[in-house]
Order: sequence, then structure tokens, then C-alpha cells
Amino acid sequence: MTPIPVDPRPFVHIVGARPNFMKAAPVIEALGARGVAQRLVHTGQHYDEAMSDVFFDELGMPEPEVNLGVGSGSHGVQTGRLMIALEEEFVANEPSAIVVYGDVNSTVAAALVAAKLGIPIAHVEAGLRSFDRTMPEEINRVLTDAIADVLYVTSADAMAHLANEGIDPDRMRFVGNTMIDTLLRLQPLFNVEAVASQLGLSGEYAAATLHRPANVDSDEDAARLVDGLHRVADKLPLILPLHPRGRGRLERLGLDRHDDLRIVEPLPYVAFMSLLSGASLVLTDSGGIQEETTVLGVPCLTLRENTERPVTITHGTNRLVGTDPDAIEAAAEFALSNSYESMMPPLWDGAAGKRIAADLVETIGV
Ligand code: UD1
Repeated sequence: MTPIPVDPRPFVHIVGARPNFMKAAPVIEALGARGVAQRLVHTGQHYDEAMSDVFFDELGMPEPEVNLGVGSGSHGVQTGRLMIALEEEFVANEPSAIVVYGDVNSTVAAALVAAKLGIPIAHVEAGLRSFDRTMPEEINRVLTDAIADVLYVTSADAMAHLANEGIDPDRMRFVGNTMIDTLLRLQPLFNVEAVASQLGLSGEYAAATLHRPANVDSDEDAARLVDGLHRVADKLPLILPLHPRGRGRLERLGLDRHDDLRIVEPLPYVAFMSLLSGASLVLTDSGGIQEETTVLGVPCLTLRENTERPVTITHGTNRLVGTDPDAIEAAAEFALSNSYESMMPPLWDGAAGKRIAADLVETIGV
């Protein structure tokens, strides 16, 4: 009998920025369990210890085979550097397919390079749309979905967006949410008491994060949020693990000039999820945190005018509040005195990574 030829080339995962790591870990694990050859490429888009290295051990991710060290820059500079470095990487170590995650600049850069080299592309977390093209992530999402070969989708609304864009249904797979796989796997380690004592918190508290360019890149926008967050801190202690982007501006505008508001460094995954789990209220402009609070059943006020994750509102605990200080104050008051019903969105069951691995092997082959 002639043996079936085995493609020795690896699946290559591209990660670069903090939210990529939690999304990639379950896919890498599930492909590993099937004995599939893999290579992990870190672009270096995020490089601070607290934004990158700290996650690998905790999430049980292998060390990346290579870190391209691309770093920060304007969108043109960063995306250009990413494309140059990724093309060299894919030419030197030919992938059987690449797997890209979410909507960061590393995601779209890898997809563009692979498409032009004729390498199959799988996009995990496809189809999300805020319909706000001023968001860099929206551009990254639309472009990546247009050129990826296989689209792994977290919610029914995202399937509909892809269909509306004329994408062939044969390319789409509704598989669930790998970021939630990671949450459910590590949830037994979440320890509210430990993080509260580490951060000197006692009793009820709220937690917040801010990093979107629309919120922190101008004094005018940031000042409104400082006012809104101070009004929340008037009600209960507020803790902010702050992303490096915008921290300087927010501090200059007096964010930490409130007795009950404290800024801390970005936290590792388990500590941060523990902090969210124990919070009475979360305020954020992050995408992933809208999903994580839905699963944790913690009220989330999203400090944006739109969301690409409406399932967190229809099924979960998320409410779109915007950035007006009066609206933030009123929404916080409401959330603290009412309880929100929440349901788990379909297929957010901890098995998305396994579904993706099974499908990748079948679709791309090994
Ligand atoms: C990126 C993603 C965003 C995601 C966020 C999660 C894009 C377009 N945006 O935004 O979707 O929600 O990651 O964190 O890809 N910086 C550091 N140390 C680091 C990384 C960044 O100091 O390790 C600072 C630098 O000043 C840098 C700035 O943060 O210029 C922005 O970093 P960048 O990777 O360009 O975008 P993020 O705002 O992190």
C-alpha cells in the first residue's frame, strides 16, 4: 500500500499583541493534542514584560520559535515593518497554513503577506463589525476576512455580517470563542481574595481599563473620561490596571487625583480575571473584556459609542454607555442597584479550540 503523503510543513500561528495570546492558546493546545506540526511566531508588536511575556507561562503556551521584534510605531510604520518581517519569516520557514487571531495590526499584516505568497489563511474571531471605520481594528477585521480562506466565527451576528459582505458560506465556521475557552479552563485558579489583598482592596470595588485611541489620544476625550471615572470613584473604590498607551496623558489630566481611584500596572491574566470576577462593576473600552464580563456575570459599562460584540448585550451583562460623564455616572448608579440577567452566548462552552483544530486538519490537511 502506498503511504498517504504527510505535509511536514507546520501550521504557523501569528501572535503579537496581548489579546492574541488568550485566543491562540486553546488552538495551539488542541492541534498539539492531534500531533500536528506547529510553529509560533511572535511579531513583537507588544514587548513589555507586563504586556507579553507574563502571559505565556500562565496560559500554558509554548515559547515562540521566533520573536520578530517589530515594536511600536504609527500604523504605516508598524504594519510595514510587520509585513517585511513576516514575509521573510514565511519564505524561510514555509507554513502549510497560517492562523491569525482577532483584529490587531499583526493580524492583518500576516494575512496580507500570506495571501500574496499563496499560503492558506485561517482567521480566528472573524466577522465582528463595529461599523466604525475610524477604529483601526475595524479596518483590520474587514481586510483580514476578505482575504482569509477559513473564517472561524464566535457569534451568529458575525456570521450574518460575513454573508452580507458576500463571503462564500463554505469559508465560514461558527465554532464559539477561544478567548472564553481560556477563561473557562483557568477559572478554577481565579482568586478574588488573593488579588484584593495584593492590591490592598477591601469590600466592594469597581475595576476599569482604558486604551482605545478614540478615548485616550486627545486631551478633550481623555478629560471627559477622567471626569466620568471620578464620579464612579465617588460611589465606590475604583482600580485601573492601565495599558501604557494613554497612561501619561490620563495621569497628566489628574486621573489619579481622587482618594478612591488607584492606577496600577497591567496585571497578568489570572490576577486580572480574579479582579474582574470580584468587581461589583467593570468599566472598559476593551473588546475582550466585554466578553469576559458576560461569562463572569459581572456588569460591564462599555465606554464607547458602538461595539463589535453585540452578543454581550443581547445575552450578557454589557451596556453601551459612551463617554459622557453624566451617562457614565447614571449607568454606574443603575448597575450598582439592579441585577443583570445573563445567558451564555451559544457555543461559548470551552470547546472552540478543539472545533477549530478538528476543522483545520480536515480543511487544510497535514
Ligand atoms: C493594540 C491593538 C488593539 C488591542 C490592544 C490590546 C492594533 C491596531 N491595536 O493596541 O486592538 O486592543 O493592542 O492591548 O493593533 N506600548 C508599550 N508597550 C508595549 C506595547 C505598547 O509601551 O508592550 C505603548 C507604545 O507607546 C505604543 C502604544 O502602546 O506606541 C500602542 O501600542 P500598539 O501595539 O500600537 O497598539 P495598542 O494600543 O496596544
